[in-house]
Amino acid sequence: MPAISRGEVSYITGAASGIGRALASMLVDQGGLVVIADLNGEAAAKFAAELNEKAGSVVAISVKADTTVWEEQLAGFQHTTSKFKRIDYVFANAGIAERPWLPPFDPETAATRPLVKPDLATANINLTGQLYTAALALQTFERQEIGPSGFRGKLILTASVFGYFPSKAMPLYAASKAGIINFMRSAAQYYAAKNITVNSVAPNLVDTPIAPDTLFIPFRERKLLSDIQLVLDQFKKFLGESTLNGQALSISQDNVWVHPADTHMLEVNGPACDLISMEILKIFGDKTQ
Ligand SMILES: NC(=O)c1ccc[n+]([C@@H]2O[C@H](COP(=O)([O-])OP(=O)(O)OC[C@H]3O[C@@H](n4cnc5c(N)ncnc54)[C@H](O)[C@@H]3O)[C@@H](O)[C@H]2O)c1
Repeated sequence: MPAISRGEVSYITGAASGIGRALASMLVDQGGLVVIADLNGEAAAKFAAELNEKAGSVVAISVKADTTVWEEQLAGFQHTTSKFKRIDYVFANAGIAERPWLPPFDPETAATRPLVKPDLATANINLTGQLYTAALALQTFERQEIGPSGFRGKLILTASVFGYFPSKAMPLYAASKAGIINFMRSAAQYYAAKNITVNSVAPNLVDTPIAPDTLFIPFRERKLLSDIQLVLDQFKKFLGESTLNGQALSISQDNVWVHPADTHMLEVNGPACDLISMEILKIFGDKTQ
C-alpha cells in the first residue's frame, strides 16, 4: 500500500471529526505532519494538541476555517505554508448531510405559503467549499517544486456514492457529490502531465457524527455500513509514489471498486468534447496544451 514519505504535509478540511479525523491520525502514524482545518476551531485545536502530545513533538497544527468563506481558507493555507513550507496532500473533505432545500411537497397548503428562497447550505459546503479548497490546493502545488514522493502535490476529494446514484431525499447532496466527481475527473485530465494528481474517495454510509446516532441503528442491524478502516485504505492508495489519477474509489459495506467514468455515447460525443476542450483552453490563453 503506498505510504507517504516522513515529514510530508497534509492539509485536511473537516478534520476535527469522522473521516477527516481518522485520516489525520493515520497520516501522523505514517510519519506525516497534518493540518487539522475545521469550522469547529475548538475541536480542531483539541485534536491537534492530542496528536502532538501522543507524538511528543509538533506533528499537527489546527486552523479554524469555514470552507465556504474564501478568505478563511486562504488564511489557513497561508498559515500552513508559513509553518511547514509546503503542502504535499490536500484532502477536500469537509461536508455535511442534506439539509432540506425546500419545504416538504404539500399542494394542500402550498397556496397559503410564500415562495421561499431555497436553503443551499448543502451545496455551498459540499460543492463550493470543496472547490475553494481545490483552488487553493492546485495553486499551492503550482508554486512548489516536486516533493519527496515525486509530485508537486496531490488533491483528494471526499465524494460519495451519491455522486453516481440519485437520492429522492438528498437532491443537493447528490448534486454536490456528482459535481465533485466530474470536477475531479476534469481536473485530473488537466493536471495529468503536471506532476499533480486529483482523485476521490466515495463511500456509502460510514458511522460518523455526520448524522444523529439514531439514523445508523437500522444500518447497523442490517449490516449496511462501510467500515471506516476500509475507507482509509482507499485514501492510502493515492498517497506516496502512487500514480493513480482521476479515480473514484468507492466503498459500500465490504465492497471496494473503481467507479467507471460515464462512456455512454462517447463514440458520438468524444471528438466534439475533445475539440471543445482544446479550443476553450486556447481562448483562455492556456500555454500548457
Ligand atoms: N459518514 C458518511 O456516511 C459519509 C459517506 C460518504 C461521504 N461522506 C463525506 O465525508 C466527508 C466527511 O464526513 P464525516 O462523515 O466525517 O462527517 P463529520 O460530521 O464527522 O465531520 C465533518 C467535519 O466537517 C466540519 N465541517 C462542516 N462544515 C464545515 C465547513 N463549512 N467548513 C469547515 N469544516 C466544516 C465539521 O465541523 C466536522 O468536523 C463529507 O464530505 C461527507 O459528505 C461521509
